[in-house]
Amino acid sequence: MLNQYISKTRRSRDLFERAERVLCGGVNHNIRTFGLTTHGAYPPFMARGEGSHIWDVDGNEYIDWWMTHFAKILGHAHPSVIAAIREQLENGVHLGALNEAQVELAELLRRAIPLLEKMRFCTTGAEATMYATRLARLYTGRHLVAKARGGWHGGNDSLVYHLKYPFTDEPIFAGLSFDFNDSDSVTELFREHGEELAAVIVEPVLGAGGGLPPERDFLRHLREQCDAHGSVLIFDEIITGFRLCYGSAGVELFGVRPDLMTLGKIVGGGMPIGIYGGREEIMRLAEPGAKGGRWVGGGTFSSHPLSMAAGVAVIRELERLKNDYRRLNTTGDTFRRNINTYFSDEGIKALSTGTGSIAFVNWLRHDIEPPLTATKLGEAADHKRLDLFQSLLFEQGVFGFHGLGAISFAHTKEDISRTLDVAREVAPIVQAYDQ
Ligand SMILES: Cc1ncc(COP(=O)(O)O)c(C=O)c1O
Repeated sequence: MLNQYISKTRRSRDLFERAERVLCGGVNHNIRTFGLTTHGAYPPFMARGEGSHIWDVDGNEYIDWWMTHFAKILGHAHPSVIAAIREQLENGVHLGALNEAQVELAELLRRAIPLLEKMRFCTTGAEATMYATRLARLYTGRHLVAKARGGWHGGNDSLVYHLKYPFTDEPIFAGLSFDFNDSDSVTELFREHGEELAAVIVEPVLGAGGGLPPERDFLRHLREQCDAHGSVLIFDEIITGFRLCYGSAGVELFGVRPDLMTLGKIVGGGMPIGIYGGREEIMRLAEPGAKGGRWVGGGTFSSHPLSMAAGVAVIRELERLKNDYRRLNTTGDTFRRNINTYFSDEGIKALSTGTGSIAFVNWLRHDIEPPLTATKLGEAADHKRLDLFQSLLFEQGVFGFHGLGAISFAHTKEDISRTLDVAREVAPIVQAYDQ
């Protein structure tokens, strides 16, 4: 298994051996093994990216579906983003003070998403969700927060629970959750804890939990329950912001307005970024000296000028591409439909899930019925086959995670049809895999 991959990735193999001696598991993000270690291989070390393609240190070329954790919607090394970063670089990287680009980026973001009456920049999405929930606690004077099972909001202490099926409580990191797309579980949560609930944090499209779109009225039900109980509704749009439309997917596509929102990934154009913002009444608590100086918002590298400059370049470019989102989303929808038709025609136990330009592939031990939830997907998941599928895609020059990932404006028709061909080539091998 994977002999071809191993024979053409010798530099990566040597680097991974060195990495394992000094870095935990050889990586700096647990998902960056990309499932290859499950099958006796190692992840490729990447050297260069351009447009929709990426090259490893051995010179192998891949169609990239991972796109820097879905951050590069314009493709790798977009000329305007690179030019903006280069210009800022010459001026001394980060000077630890205010910079002009942060004002410009905030103005652009507020124009695109008017509910961001006030906002703050930080360095990662994990910080953004941490500060958003902290603000909700300060605002409501309540402690409890709830999230969707399978929702990933970054590695901050308050939200690292119920990440993976069976979503059991661990002694240290316990918390409240509901099933995305299961309104009854939301009603029940509020019935039991509504009066103590500071906030509900949810992605409008459940990202790591399957790329699942919200069922009709699910987000609206969350909004109504939050209103009825005085809880703050936070949309984590770190994946969906500027991915499915120009601005907020929650507001523009699904018609629901949260109180607070977090953004990240795409807005940084490949540079580290996190953003939290929303209703001024709540955001005011982040001001210097607010409520006796309770600390919301620090960060040596917050509003880093390179991230701000890249962000301005990305958002300006996306403003120009505003009307092209429909095409991008349709390409993703068509891809998922085609691959699912192939899977069902061939009796292959896999299912592509996603929304618009997001397309994951799940390997399943048995069929599941809509509405899809992270619990149903998790209970049926065949992790070993998924890891093998991904590894074999790598071997054939397709780089992704969660089965595949998300496309960018730089992906071509050829990229998409080649991916479909490769998936068709490797899927029968994965199906026949004897565990
Ligand atoms: C929805 C969502 N929220 C938050 C985060 C955390 O962002 P970061 O990795 O920048 O800390 C992620 C990252 O994958 C995410 O997908």
